[in-house]
Amino acid sequence: MGRKSLVLLVSCALLAYLVYTPLPENVEQPWKLMMTCAFFRFQMQLSALLETLGFGHHLLLNLFKVPPTADENVTVMDTLFNKVPVRVFEPKQKSSTMRRAVFYIHGGGWTTGDATWLLYDELARKMVNKLDAVVVSTNYRLSPQYHFPTQFEDVYDALRWFLRKKVLSEYGVDPTRICIAGDSAGGNLAAAVTQKLLDDPDIKIKIKIQSLIYPALQALDMDLPSHRENGDMPILKKYEMVVFWSMYFTSDEALKEAMLANQHVPVESSHLFKFVNWSTLLPERFKKGHLYANPVHGRSDLIKNYPGFLDVRASPLLADDSKLQGLPLTHILTCQYDVLRDDGLMYLSRLRAAGVQVVHEHVEDGFHGILLFSNSLMNFRASHRVANKYLKWLEENL
Ligand SMILES: *[C@@H]1O[C@H](CO)[C@@H](O)[C@H](O)[C@H]1NC(C)=O
Ligand SMILES: *[C@@H]1O[C@H](CO)[C@@H](O)[C@H](O)[C@H]1NC(C)=O
Repeated sequence: MGRKSLVLLVSCALLAYLVYTPLPENVEQPWKLMMTCAFFRFQMQLSALLETLGFGHHLLLNLFKVPPTADENVTVMDTLFNKVPVRVFEPKQKSSTMRRAVFYIHGGGWTTGDATWLLYDELARKMVNKLDAVVVSTNYRLSPQYHFPTQFEDVYDALRWFLRKKVLSEYGVDPTRICIAGDSAGGNLAAAVTQKLLDDPDIKIKIKIQSLIYPALQALDMDLPSHRENGDMPILKKYEMVVFWSMYFTSDEALKEAMLANQHVPVESSHLFKFVNWSTLLPERFKKGHLYANPVHGRSDLIKNYPGFLDVRASPLLADDSKLQGLPLTHILTCQYDVLRDDGLMYLSRLRAAGVQVVHEHVEDGFHGILLFSNSLMNFRASHRVANKYLKWLEENL
C-alpha cells in the first residue's frame, strides 16, 4: 500500500470515528444524520472559540440568515411588531376573502435560531403556499445576553401587537382563524404565550389552534425516560438541553450543575412535582423498563436567585387544570428518539385530562429537529414526510 492511500485510509477512519454516533436501526439515512450532527457540533465549538477570541458568538450563526426576498408566490417583509423584529410572509395573489394566519416561533434553545434563517424562511414559505395564509415569524432576544423572561416577553409583545383588529385587517387576516406554532424552544414559547392569552383581559381575539413541535415544557425533572433513553441522540443531547435550560435563566454554572444532577428544585416547591410526574402522566409503553424515583431536593438559594425555572411561563406543564381547560385545539408532535419526547407526552396527558381536544402525532423513527431538515440545505426523506403531515394538519384544522 502506498503512503498516499495509507494516509487516505487513516483520514477516513479518523473522520468516521469523529462523526460516528450510534443510531437506532429504524432511523433513515443514518450517515447523513451523523454528518449533520457533526456539523452542528463543529459549528458550536467554532462559535465558542470565536467567542473566546472576542468575535461574539452569533458571528457564525449569521451565515444562515437570508434576506427578505419575494418569490413568484410570496412577498416577504422584515418589520417590527412592538419593537420586536418579525418576518412577515404574505401570499402575492390578491384574495377576495380574509386569510388564515400562523404566528410562528423558531427554536434554538432560547440561545440561537432566527426567523431569517434559511431553514425557517423556507418553512414559512411552505406554510404560505400550502395554506394560502399570512405567516408571521417572530424573533426574540437570546441567551446568554438576555435571560428569562425576555424571550417570553418579546414573543408576547409581538403577538399582542398582531392580535389587534386593526393590524389583522391590514394583513387581511380572519381573526377567527389564527394558529400559534413553534418548534423546540419555540414550542415552549408557543405553549407559554397561548396559556398567557387566556387570562389577558386586553386581548379579545381567540386563537383557533396551537401546534407544538417537539416542545420543551418543563425544567423540573431532568430524569425522564426520554432523558435516559435519548440523552445521546442527535440533534439534541441531554447535556445540551440542560445547558439551554439553565442558560435560559442564568449564566451561573451552579444552576447547570444542579440541573445535571437533577437536584435543583427546593423542598418548598415539591408540590409542583405532581405536574411533571411521569409515573402517572406517561402512557405505559414509554415507562417500560424505567423506575420512578421521587425527586431529590436541592438548594433553596438557586430558586431565590433564578426563580424562572418554576415559572409557568417557562414550564407550561406547571399550569393547573383550570387554566389548561381553556386551551384551543392542540397539535403535539413528538419523536421517539428525542430527549424532549416525554415533555410533549406529559402535556398531552395533562391536556386530555383537562378536556382539551388534542391531536397527537408520534414519529416512530423521528429525532429532534426533524421538521426543519426538508429544505435546500439539509434534505432528509423523513423530514419531508413530517413536514407534509404538519402542513396537512394545519390545512385541515386552521
Ligand atoms: C408557486 O406556486 C406554484 C403553484 O402552487 C408552485 O408550483 C411553485 O413551485 C411555487 N413557487 C415557489 C417558488 O414556491
Ligand atoms: C408520582 O406518582 C407515583 C404514582 O404513580 C407516586 O407513587 C409518587 O409519590 C408520585 N410522586 C410525586 C412527587 O408526585
